[in-house]
Amino acid sequence: MKTTTLTLKKLKGQRPIVAVTAYDVITARYAAEAGVDVILVGDSVGDNLLGFDSTVPVTLDMIAHHTAAVARAHTDALVAADVPFGEAHFDFERVLASCQRLMQQAGAEAVKIEGGARIAPLIARLTAAGVPVWGHIGLEPQQVRVLGRYRKFGVEAAEAERLLADALALEKAGCFALLLEMTEANLARTITETVKIPTVGIGSGADCDGQILVCTDLLGLAPGAMPSFAHAFASVGEETKKGFAAYTMAVRERKFPK
Ligand code: KIV
Repeated sequence: MKTTTLTLKKLKGQRPIVAVTAYDVITARYAAEAGVDVILVGDSVGDNLLGFDSTVPVTLDMIAHHTAAVARAHTDALVAADVPFGEAHFDFERVLASCQRLMQQAGAEAVKIEGGARIAPLIARLTAAGVPVWGHIGLEPQQVRVLGRYRKFGVEAAEAERLLADALALEKAGCFALLLEMTEANLARTITETVKIPTVGIGSGADCDGQILVCTDLLGLAPGAMPSFAHAFASVGEETKKGFAAYTMAVRERKFPK
């Protein structure tokens, strides 16, 4: 059965939500066959598939391109697309047009937007226009050029207080779920217990309503070092290397084709 934003809301307190990123039709099909609830076409496509050093260079065109590929898998998982760097800080009409493109042309069923209370008024207008928004707080990787590095959020009391206020503002604005990235685990639990919408964590401890991992990390296909919180559940990188090596050898040795 097709997962909707309502399904996800109802899962809170029932069972953990399983979310992954995917950027292409094949990975999306495999993920959906495994039963994941949500496929995010994340801007992590930039540093995981496209060779950039962060998510900052990822454009709306790129997200739309990869979202369309994932949508062509026609899975039961909810397909969400990231609103890329800078986009959510234009005026409402432009942001709505970007979401319209992701939903109408690319086939996203929801969008994810980084940012807390400062963008809550924008999110309220988007949800009123029919755009389901997945909020994203804690570490916001699109801020990396300002932050200077990726780090844990909510360790200091003032920042923890601000993040709780962000979570409440986003819930009030109509977000159907919140992604908590690299949020201190006790704070992530407090946010999860405070808001009525589900929280999906990454590097934020075990007490969120669900978990998300980047597909290249969980498949063991990550190009570089993995974040400390990630876990490889398979060795697709190693298998891929072996496959290419076997093919190369077989051609050189005239063993393929027969
Ligand atoms: O783009 C992405 O992959 C993300 C992760 C935090 C899941 O937003």
